[in-house]
Amino acid sequence: MNQKDWKVHNPSGSKRVIVTKELPGTRWLDILTRSGCKVEICTSTDVLSVDEIKAAMGTQCDAALGQLTEDWGDELFSALKAAGATAYSNVAVGYNNVDVDAATKHGLPVGNTPGVLTETTAQMAVALTFAAARRTGEAERFLRAGKYKGWLMTLFLGELLWRKTVGVIGAGRIGAMYARMMVEGHKMNLLYHDVYPNKDLENYVSAYADFLKSQGEAPVSCKRVETLEDLLGEADCVSIHTVLDESTHHLINADRLALMKENAVLVNTSRGPVVDEAALVSHCRKHPDFRAGLDVFEDEPALKPGLNELDNVVIVPHIASATRWTREGMATLAACNVAAILMGYPAWNKSDILSFLEGESPKAAPSIVNAEALGIPLFENQRPPSEQGI
Ligand code: DGY
Repeated sequence: MNQKDWKVHNPSGSKRVIVTKELPGTRWLDILTRSGCKVEICTSTDVLSVDEIKAAMGTQCDAALGQLTEDWGDELFSALKAAGATAYSNVAVGYNNVDVDAATKHGLPVGNTPGVLTETTAQMAVALTFAAARRTGEAERFLRAGKYKGWLMTLFLGELLWRKTVGVIGAGRIGAMYARMMVEGHKMNLLYHDVYPNKDLENYVSAYADFLKSQGEAPVSCKRVETLEDLLGEADCVSIHTVLDESTHHLINADRLALMKENAVLVNTSRGPVVDEAALVSHCRKHPDFRAGLDVFEDEPALKPGLNELDNVVIVPHIASATRWTREGMATLAACNVAAILMGYPAWNKSDILSFLEGESPKAAPSIVNAEALGIPLFENQRPPSEQGI
């Protein structure tokens, strides 16, 4: 195990917080140091092993900020508890790398960072959709290789998605935002599949359809489909926005790919294992007009054999949330999560997460996924100070 370097901020702080990767911006660090924390940040870009994180915790640690690339299971939470910690936050909205039950068993709150990835990640899904549909990766490689010998009517013909059908798998925050971008920007009809209906999204598309009609344009439609199969056969492009759990592992497999249109586009910005990547490689090989845009991979950072050689696949290295605003926001929310728990504040249960990003943050932990299981009081239920007594 290579010895990793750790940078220390506010060495005189009374609470010790370890941060397993450098984070963008300064607000997150200010929040922790103003809460009296000594902050130790690992400066290595390597993914830290469980042993390395345990070694960093040592025998005394009050909280940790971890990454989605790390395995936060029983072993780490038991070590964190033994070191005296009371809080953990993932610097990510997704937390499939965290065993929340194990954290709860050890009485440790688990934070995540919702609400600041929505537009940024949806935009990347849109970018991948059109990069795949319009073959920009292939075309750029062709040009850079000096193969462009002049304009041709038949060069890199792609697919026009305007007024076609978009399929969204998982219509939560990010999925619904992607849907809106495709419906509003490209006048696409929407099919979505989700265990829960998204009434806000349905009402929004319906109001937008009325607006289009009022302008003399053809309306758009929105339908929640019962089965994934109903969506896959009809959509011209499909974007995946589900969480990863047992029920969504290999949700898109060879059988389901076979249901998709010959020239459809499949986009994944959620988690790699939601798609059976080997099956996708084989499907893309057999169906050159089928296209995929991937931000996430099954064995990240490795790619399944053959994926890298496929011209009909556009790939980027898990950067869907990589805008400065979003990444700084994620760091801020994660810092607020642990600082608030260390200060004994309640859990935020209002939708306005953005109030943590500027000025004085609310005295609450923005998002604690096991708040209810741990009986952490909720912000909205707090009595005003005048009623609280002493
Ligand atoms: C998350 O926060 O879960 C994202 O995958 C990061 O891009």
